[in-house]
Amino acid sequence: MSPSDSFLVFDGPLVHSLSRDAITAVERAIVVVENGKITDIRESDTGDVSFLNSDQYKLKKLANGQFLCPGFVDLHTHAPQFPNQGLGMGLPLLDWLDKYTFPLEMRYKDENFAKKVYHDVVKSTLKSGTTTACYYGTIHRQSTTHLAKAASQLGQRALVGKVNMNRNSPANLVESTDSSLEDTESFIKDVKAFENPLVEPVITPRFAIACDTKLLRELGDLAAKYNLHVQTHISENVDEIAYTKELFPDAESYAQVYDSAGLLTDKTILGHGVHLTDDEEKLIAKRGSAVAHCPNSNTWLRSGICDVRRLWRNGVKIGLGTDVGAGSVASIIDAMRSALATSTNKSFFSADYQPLTFHEVFYLATLGGAEALGKEEFIGNFEVGKDFDALVVDVEKSQDQTPSTFTYEEHSILERVQKLIFCGDNRNITDVYVRGRLVST
Ligand code: GUN
Ligand code: FE
Repeated sequence: MSPSDSFLVFDGPLVHSLSRDAITAVERAIVVVENGKITDIRESDTGDVSFLNSDQYKLKKLANGQFLCPGFVDLHTHAPQFPNQGLGMGLPLLDWLDKYTFPLEMRYKDENFAKKVYHDVVKSTLKSGTTTACYYGTIHRQSTTHLAKAASQLGQRALVGKVNMNRNSPANLVESTDSSLEDTESFIKDVKAFENPLVEPVITPRFAIACDTKLLRELGDLAAKYNLHVQTHISENVDEIAYTKELFPDAESYAQVYDSAGLLTDKTILGHGVHLTDDEEKLIAKRGSAVAHCPNSNTWLRSGICDVRRLWRNGVKIGLGTDVGAGSVASIIDAMRSALATSTNKSFFSADYQPLTFHEVFYLATLGGAEALGKEEFIGNFEVGKDFDALVVDVEKSQDQTPSTFTYEEHSILERVQKLIFCGDNRNITDVYVRGRLVST
């Protein structure tokens, strides 16, 4: 039998997180992948694969300097906002939504525009090493289905949400409660009809300002009925929080608004959570919901610095989000670097605050994201039985990018990981695999 794409064997260095605190590096590993799943991993001094006893495996020997890294999980990004990357930075959230985001999102009424942009978005996030993406679409059902289709065709693991908005939004971005719910249910069915287990619909109320109590409750019911993930925004900006309190005078807190609607579950991803109180964090932890930490966006919209260590202390699961277009860069490498930068800045103002380490942000980008989604059984690191969602990384590839007088031989694997996190971008990602399928080169 000739080698097949269904049977792969990788030979080279590997890094992954087995816990939050330390990256595990293997100098030379043999990783066996059968039909997308990791079936064997062993350390090897020689690269000997004779134990496989078969010639049907396609051997992928990594080039000098390369290493294998788990695919990145982007817990929060807005596909329709990609054309606006880098625009309106410095405006506060509610002004930025009005001036930049809503006018662009209206254009997705046009399915052809949506189709073109969404194809490019998925291509670009795959190139950035995002093997699992949580996407917000817009209110438009058919256009958002094109986003799910693009992910499905291009091979990305994706959670895709038709956004719900039934108030406090511009006239052509506001739905009636009934049409919002009907379109959401139709969207769920449309995506399920792909019969692609890698692509799932996700319930996506934009935020409490744009959804009234009835809509939130009904969306909570839909999430339960179809056993779906939920994604929304929470406590990103102080004016947003004040407005939410005005709209829900009887709620104890912002988190309580979602909880009362049945939207805080162990399948909920809350974007930002910059200004949560301890009580809210404890409630979120109790419900098993997770926070998508979006440090780039929190900087450029001047929302604040999210205290990741406090969320952890309160037991909340966390991963990273790029939050394009409030975030200016669609790469989780940038999100890791931004998380390091913002937590370091925070430490300047509180002497006892320990900045995050590169080990911890690497965890957030991979296993942390997987745990936030409850998908750690399938993705997040290289363990036998998991799907092979992986990147071949080459930090020596672009000499123009990281001019260095050193050759790779002088850098340990963990030093190469540091180069990736502190200096890298998508030029350092050579190959991207999702469930064993090569989806970007
Ligand atoms: N809150 C409500 N909508 C949005 C959005 O599109 N981006 C961000 N960053 N926050 C939001
Ligand atoms: Fe967002």
